[in-house]
Amino acid sequence: MVRDPVPSLEAFGPLPAATRALRVGMIGIGTVGGGTFRVLARNQRQIAARAGRGIEVVAVAARDLQRAARVVGPAVPVTADPFELATDPAIDVVLEAAGGTGAARDWVLAAIAHGKHVVTANKALLAVHGEQIFAAARARGVAVAYEGAVAVSIPIVKALREGLVANRIEWLAGIINGTSNFVLSRMRDEGLGFADALREAQALGYAEADPAFDVEGIDAAHKLTLLAANAFGMPLRLADVQVEGITALQEADVRGAGQLGFRIKLLGVARRTADGVELRVQPTLLPATHLLAQVDGAMNGVMVKGDAAGVTMYYGAGAGSEQTASAVIADLVDLARLDGVPPAQQVPHLGVHPHATEALPVLPHAASRGVRWVRVPLVAGQGLDALQALLAEHGVPLRRAVWASATPVEAPEALCLTEAMGQATLDDALRALAAHPAVRGPIRALPVEMLDA
Ligand code: HSE
Repeated sequence: MVRDPVPSLEAFGPLPAATRALRVGMIGIGTVGGGTFRVLARNQRQIAARAGRGIEVVAVAARDLQRAARVVGPAVPVTADPFELATDPAIDVVLEAAGGTGAARDWVLAAIAHGKHVVTANKALLAVHGEQIFAAARARGVAVAYEGAVAVSIPIVKALREGLVANRIEWLAGIINGTSNFVLSRMRDEGLGFADALREAQALGYAEADPAFDVEGIDAAHKLTLLAANAFGMPLRLADVQVEGITALQEADVRGAGQLGFRIKLLGVARRTADGVELRVQPTLLPATHLLAQVDGAMNGVMVKGDAAGVTMYYGAGAGSEQTASAVIADLVDLARLDGVPPAQQVPHLGVHPHATEALPVLPHAASRGVRWVRVPLVAGQGLDALQALLAEHGVPLRRAVWASATPVEAPEALCLTEAMGQATLDDALRALAAHPAVRGPIRALPVEMLDA
């Protein structure tokens, strides 16, 4: 006899009496929506036992009706008009799983206006329009939940807003774009070209509809914006994030970083300093032995430093259909549990109650400080001493300077590691250096993070 491995609901004891299912209207049935539908169906009994009530998808809106019907079957009505769901009194929660920042905003605002909670994994929508959406939700007394928007499977929003609530967060640093991490890993480990590695990430369903969002660092900037707001109790400041993607990275950078004992990762960093908050997404060197440097493929990792907890680290899939569904359903369960709880007693959208939000200044890039790695192509015959002297003349304190091992004698390259220094000083020095006759080609400078305190 084949036994059902899933225990019945009754096995968990009686459910509370006044518990009809939470009724979900799903907009979009692609990677996120499809995965959510599948996991909800597969684990419905455990999920209901944990939520205290069932969670039921009662309608789906999709562009391709036939494809949607194939995914959800005949029992779930399918419409081409998302506003039908946003305004339907029989729906409690609208799950926005379509993406984009245009129409998606209108659907979400319409759902809120009709008294519905919203769940979304759409980081672009929230990083760009979050203030408006959260304000509308507060005014209407509904919740907007978005665990799936950041580092999909990792419950990092919950960790910041709830688990680490006692802490003054000092910094967080994360590999928060699965696609670009996958591309970098494939290039380093398999020697794949950038375009091939990206095509693979697209085929695996990791990339955004427009993969430029992934490889140009924009998607990571969206996520960093949400993380920084939750970590520091500050408003969403997407426009102030310093963003650089991985498209300009060269093999010589990866090799040169490795020679000095580092790995390059597309890292999002949010750090409190005496003068303001540093917010940046950039290819960054991490010591090769650092835990975050071990985060490879489409995995994500986020490290958070709190004054009480110290350093904590979170690791998990950074992209994928059911991986995102895991977070989306966690949000649905939260909503199923909190029905009837007054908004003032709910976890605030961005971690602090709005009246307590601090408009912390964001540091301009030039005002940031830190260790930098610099690769300088030199004219043959130049000495490292001369380069060191030149940099010292421009106020750049060097920790190390070596020849890049894999470059030919007629086209040498120097690899330098600075002491902690101001970015403005470095920028001035590199401008002067670029014009010097001893320099043969474009200089590359990248930040180094030790993340050891
Ligand atoms: N394109 C995103 C990534 C999906 O690669 O991280 C998850 O947000």
